[in-house]
Amino acid sequence: MSIANKLAREELINMVPYQSARRLFSSSGESAANKIWLNANEASGDGIYQLEAKSINRYPDFQPESLLKAYSNYVQQPVSNILATRGADEGIELIIRTFCKAYHDDILICPPTYGMYAISAENHGAGIVKVPLIDNKLDLESLKTKVGKVKVVFICSPGNPTGNLLPQAQIKAAIELFKDSAIVVVDEAYIEFSAKDSVVSWLAQYENLVILRTLSKAFALAGLRCGFTLANCDIITMLSKVIAPYPISAPVAEIASIALAKDNLAQVNIRVEETTLLRQQLGSWLTEQPWCETVHHSDANFILFKASSVETKDFIFNTLVEQGILIRDQSKQVQLEACLRISIGNESELELLKQTIDSAFRK
Ligand SMILES: Cc1ncc(COP(=O)(O)O)c(C=O)c1O
Repeated sequence: MSIANKLAREELINMVPYQSARRLFSSSGESAANKIWLNANEASGDGIYQLEAKSINRYPDFQPESLLKAYSNYVQQPVSNILATRGADEGIELIIRTFCKAYHDDILICPPTYGMYAISAENHGAGIVKVPLIDNKLDLESLKTKVGKVKVVFICSPGNPTGNLLPQAQIKAAIELFKDSAIVVVDEAYIEFSAKDSVVSWLAQYENLVILRTLSKAFALAGLRCGFTLANCDIITMLSKVIAPYPISAPVAEIASIALAKDNLAQVNIRVEETTLLRQQLGSWLTEQPWCETVHHSDANFILFKASSVETKDFIFNTLVEQGILIRDQSKQVQLEACLRISIGNESELELLKQTIDSAFRK
């Protein structure tokens, strides 16, 4: 037995890490250059920012002021309600580590949902209570039965991989249900694709509300690793005790601040408009295909659809992989048998995807 196996926490020995899009298909190496990446809900195209990186001999501020101010302007919340993190993923982990005592407290998730809530909980030794969605909406009656039994509730809106916004009345009801007993995290990673539906304005009203945001999606900066946790200042103070001392590197703060400058926000709006149009076109095309059983409604930068059978789903997925077109198989999640998720890339990438599937079915 290796020393790692002998000494590691027992539950890590058989634990399977999160199967991120990049663990499944690496983006480095020669073969990666020719692939079409539609499996991680990123934006297409190249990065466009130039770095000065003048003071990388110094440690960065714990929370770089220029970055917090820029996000504060963007989100219309005071700086004291914002914590910048290494992606929204770090926010998820921090919330669990801050509010759940290991091997004692539980989180609640509503599957099918984003995989990192469960992985972070497992990693920390927090239990996982599941209240599945019903028709892609919250099951409030079942949530009611969990009041007092969990410390953190994760709600994803727009949902990944489902794609749809949850009704605001349902989100409000969930926050109110748990107002004395649990933190309710609303994950708004994709909210720029339906910005008017954010619940950010509720922060002043609900002490137990936490919102997760990211620059990885509509800002096209997934490689930067920059996200934000929004909450009242008492929660932010608590999370700040758990986060690493220098979470945001100086180059990250510099690029993120530029991306958030007023003049650059127009680019986000343009990207959102283009993505929405391409998503509608892809959705209509999918709906017309005989091998496609259901197309889920999407308010985000991806589309989930159900193939007519598991065999058809495998055929589509494998045909695309053979041609270097990577999409995401979601069929292991509850309620998502035979489902695949396609990120909205650019027009030519999606055209190639359609042609590749078309010609495979014509053979
Ligand atoms: C719903 C949801 N939340 C959070 C994240 C993590 O985002 P980040 O890249 O900021 O860590 C993702 C990434 O795909 C996501 O889909």
